[in-house]
Amino acid sequence: MKYHIVTYGCQMNLHESEKIAGVLKEAGYAEAAQGTEDADIIVFNTCCIRENAENHAFGNIGALKKLKRQKKGLLIAVGGCMVQEEGKAQILKEKFPFIDILFGTHDLPALKSLIERKQSERRAVVSVSEARSAVEDGISPVRTSYPNAWVNIVYGCNNFCSYCIVPYVRGRERSRRADDVLAEVSSLVRAGYKEITLLGQNVDSYRDGDVGFSELLDQVAGIEGKFRIRFMTSHPKDFSPALVDVMKRHNNICKHLHLPAQSGNDRILSLMNRRYTRQKYLDEIALLKREIPDCAVTTDLIVAFPTETEAEFCDTLSLVKEADFDSAFMFVYSPRKGTRAAEMEQIPEAVAKERIGRLIALVNANTRKKSAAYVGKTVEILCEDFDAKKGMYLGRDEYGRMGYFKSEKNRVGEFVSLRIREANGISLYGEIE
Ligand code: SAH
Ligand code: SF4
Ligand code: F3S
Repeated sequence: MKYHIVTYGCQMNLHESEKIAGVLKEAGYAEAAQGTEDADIIVFNTCCIRENAENHAFGNIGALKKLKRQKKGLLIAVGGCMVQEEGKAQILKEKFPFIDILFGTHDLPALKSLIERKQSERRAVVSVSEARSAVEDGISPVRTSYPNAWVNIVYGCNNFCSYCIVPYVRGRERSRRADDVLAEVSSLVRAGYKEITLLGQNVDSYRDGDVGFSELLDQVAGIEGKFRIRFMTSHPKDFSPALVDVMKRHNNICKHLHLPAQSGNDRILSLMNRRYTRQKYLDEIALLKREIPDCAVTTDLIVAFPTETEAEFCDTLSLVKEADFDSAFMFVYSPRKGTRAAEMEQIPEAVAKERIGRLIALVNANTRKKSAAYVGKTVEILCEDFDAKKGMYLGRDEYGRMGYFKSEKNRVGEFVSLRIREANGISLYGEIE
């Protein structure tokens, strides 16, 4: 019996798909070599952060109707954030009656028993629980991102930014025990993983007794072996000099901070319920750059939040210039049912489109400028994959830049010194030294 998993959304979801694979493996399934073609169970792990994420999933689930008719016994399971959204499981069930199993974000550990239930019952099985009782799920994930390994440290979110659905679909914050995190990282390093990415919707919220995020990071960085550490996501309201100090003290922590600003205007930040000001954000970046001058800073930005004026949007543009971001994820605001911002006065689509275009042009110009400054320098890349189209290996440096190079030998999982010969957009090209 074979499985195929389709994943949407964030790193958290990627890791959760590795856990879904773990549960399926335990249930006797192996990964399908040809995707949907030879799978006996197809699982969609969905995202609902913006409307287009949902539309993608809807389209791809709909496309399976034919396959389901042709192949007797094929199981289709849909899980993740979209299923957890209020009323969505019912809508999915009605729109796609061929779905066999619907499971929410808290129901992943029960997937095996849901499959068994489906096989004995003739109708669709729906399991959407309110909250997960245990923090540890005991699942061994089937990791698919070597040489990187994702490690969850905190689940859920309590922040309730007014635009965001995550707190509703992921539940309240729950931190793992520090001992469990350290044991997992140690065993991953021993198993040969070269990059550990600590995950949480807001890593700064991590707490296990006296151990907050900075202390945890400090302990993780003290684990023996040649590996590097990334973490995401940090929240500007919780930024602490202690975190900068830990980053500065350990050279195995990547000099990269992903710090979502969302907007550069105080009225919008307050409507977003972000609980920091533009000035506080800029002060944080200034402190970070004073302590670690070459630290890369990336961010998330939302344009056309309800009631955003042209002048307020321009404050986001000027923030981009002042903060000098290495790169940014940029989004048009998307109303999410049940969130506070969805009830506010919306911005016309044409205005939103025009604003995102200007923002992308500005951020990308800065990214290109920064890439160009790499030419002639040597950087250390962790090789993560082979790009068959380009015929080149690729990997990132600690700042998060992607570097490409040719090699006769398979270099995946190796740290290589790359002399940069050319910068093209955000990608770097070089030769091994
Ligand atoms: N917990 C992280 C990531 C949240 S989701 C954080 O707090 O930063 C990733 C990004 O999606 C957010 O940072 C935000 O920029 C964007 N986002 C969230 N909800 C959105 C919405 N309704 N419309 C558009 N972008 C949204
Ligand atoms: Fe959403 Fe805000 Fe929580 Fe991030 S911190 S997941 S943006 S509510
Ligand atoms: Fe992630 Fe999307 Fe859920 S961004 S937490 S998969 S809504």
